[in-house]
Amino acid sequence: MSSRKRVFDLLRTINVASCQCPAHGYRGNIHVSNSTPVKDYAFEIKCSTVRYGLGVTREVGQDLVNLNAKNVCVMTDSNLVSLNPVKAVLNSLTKNGVNYKVYDRVRVEPTDSSFKDAIKFAKEGNFDSFVAVGGGSVMDTCKAANLYYCDPDADFLDYVNAPVGKGKSISLQLKPMIAIPTTSGTGSETTGVCIFDFEEIHAKTGISHNALRPLLAVIDPLHTLTVPEKVSNYSGFDIFCHALESFTAVPYTERGSAPANPTLRPAYQGSNPISDVWARFCLQTLQKYFVRSVYNADDIEARSSMHLAATMAGVGIGNAGVHLCHGLAYPIAGNVKSFVPKDYGTEPIIPHGLAVVMTAPAVFRFTAPSDPDKHLEAASLLGADVANAKRDDAGKILSDTILKYMDAMKIENGLKALGYTSSDVPDLVKGALPQDRLLKLTPRPQSADDLSKLLEDSLTIY
Ligand SMILES: NC(=O)c1ccc[n+]([C@@H]2O[C@H](COP(=O)([O-])OP(=O)(O)OC[C@H]3O[C@@H](n4cnc5c(N)ncnc54)[C@H](O)[C@@H]3O)[C@@H](O)[C@H]2O)c1
Ligand SMILES: [Fe+2]
Repeated sequence: MSSRKRVFDLLRTINVASCQCPAHGYRGNIHVSNSTPVKDYAFEIKCSTVRYGLGVTREVGQDLVNLNAKNVCVMTDSNLVSLNPVKAVLNSLTKNGVNYKVYDRVRVEPTDSSFKDAIKFAKEGNFDSFVAVGGGSVMDTCKAANLYYCDPDADFLDYVNAPVGKGKSISLQLKPMIAIPTTSGTGSETTGVCIFDFEEIHAKTGISHNALRPLLAVIDPLHTLTVPEKVSNYSGFDIFCHALESFTAVPYTERGSAPANPTLRPAYQGSNPISDVWARFCLQTLQKYFVRSVYNADDIEARSSMHLAATMAGVGIGNAGVHLCHGLAYPIAGNVKSFVPKDYGTEPIIPHGLAVVMTAPAVFRFTAPSDPDKHLEAASLLGADVANAKRDDAGKILSDTILKYMDAMKIENGLKALGYTSSDVPDLVKGALPQDRLLKLTPRPQSADDLSKLLEDSLTIY
C-alpha cells in the first residue's frame, strides 16, 4: 500500500513540475466527463511502416518471401517499366524466387477509366500481394486495384468519397501492398488515400480509408536520380503544399463532432502537434534543398532529402489532411484544355503539384487571419525574415515567400498560362464545391464567392 501511495505522490510531483505548454500542459486536475464530447477531442497518427535507405529496394524480394507471397501484382507505368527503379524491383523478386506479373498501363494522373483497367487486370490474376513502383499515379492506382480485387462485387462508386460516391467504409482486409515511390512528392506511400480524375464531373476525387494504406513504404533515394527536371519541380511543390496546408489546417479539436466509434474518425483529422512536427521538418528541408534538387539531377544529398521530406509530408497529410490549394486543384486539373507539360508525355494534363501550387499565394493570403503566427512561422521556416513582421502582414509575407519559390522554379504565370480565363471560373468553383472533405479543413469558412475570388486572383500571379 505504501508503495502505491509513493507512486501517486511521485505522479503528483511530476505533474506540478511539468511543462505547461499546450502540448504537455495537462495538469491532471481537469474534470473529464464520461460522456462523449460533442466536438472531437482526440487525434491519432497512423502510418505505413517506413524503410528508408540508398539501395534499399534490394530487400523487397525478401519482404515478399517473408509475407509468403506466391503471386505478386507489380504495378507501374509505361515510362518507368524500362527504367532502373522497376529493374531493381524485378531483380530482387527474381533473385528471391518470387512469381510476379507486371501491369504497366497506369495512366499518369489516373482517371476512373484507367483505375478500372487496372482493377480488371488485378481481378484476372490470382494475386496474393501488390507492389507499386512509381509516382503517386502508380501508387494510387495500385491501392484501388487492391480494394476492388478484394471486393469484386462492389460497384466502383461504393467506396468513392461522398458526395460524388457513396463513401462506404472499408470493412474488409486488403492484400498486403508494398509502395516504392519514384517521385518525391505525393507521399501516397504512407496515406490511406487514392485520387483519380472522375471524367464525368471534370474534377478529381478519391477514396479515403485507413485500410488503403500500404503495409510497407520502401523509400529508396536512388530512384530519384532519373526524375526529369519538370517532374522534380512540380512534385516538389506537392510536398510544399502538403506541408503548408497540413500545418495551417483547422485544428483537430475544431474539425467537427467526435465519432461514435473510433474507427470512424476520418483520415483527415485537422492539424495536430504531431503532424506539425512533420510539416516543420519539410518546410526546413524545402528551404535547404528544393532548388538544388530540381536543377541538379545528380545531387544525391538534395534529392535524398527531398525524397524523405515527401514521405514525412505524406505522414502529415495522411493524418492532418490538406485544404484549399488541393480542393481548388482538383477542378483545375480535371478541366485541362491543351496544356502539355514538358517531361510528362504527350497528352494534355496539369500535373498535380502544378495545379496545387497555382492558387497557393492567394489561398494563404486568405487563410492567414485564422492564425497569423502559424503563417509567419511557415514563412520563416521557408527562409523569410519575420523578425519585425506585423501579424496583419502574415498573409502577404507568406504569399510573397511562396511566389519567390515559384519564380525560382519558373512556374507558369498563373491559371491563364495553363489555358484558363475568367469565363472558366464558375466551372472551376462548381468542381471545387464537392471537395467537402478538404474545404471543411480550411481554417476559415469560405463561400462560393470566396472561391471565385481566389481563382480570379490566381489567373495571373507574378
Ligand atoms: N494518394 C495521395 O495521398 C496523393 C497525394 C498527392 C497526390 N496524389 C496523386 O498523385 C498523382 C501525381 O503523382 P506524381 O506527382 O508522383 O507523378 P506521376 O506518378 O504522375 O508521374 C509523373 C511522371 O514522372 C515519371 N516518373 C516517375 N518517377 C520517375 C523516375 N524515377 N524517373 C523517371 N521518370 C519518372 C512518370 O513515368 C510520369 O511520366 C496525381 O494523380 C495526384 O492526384 C496522391
Ligand atoms: Fe498533393
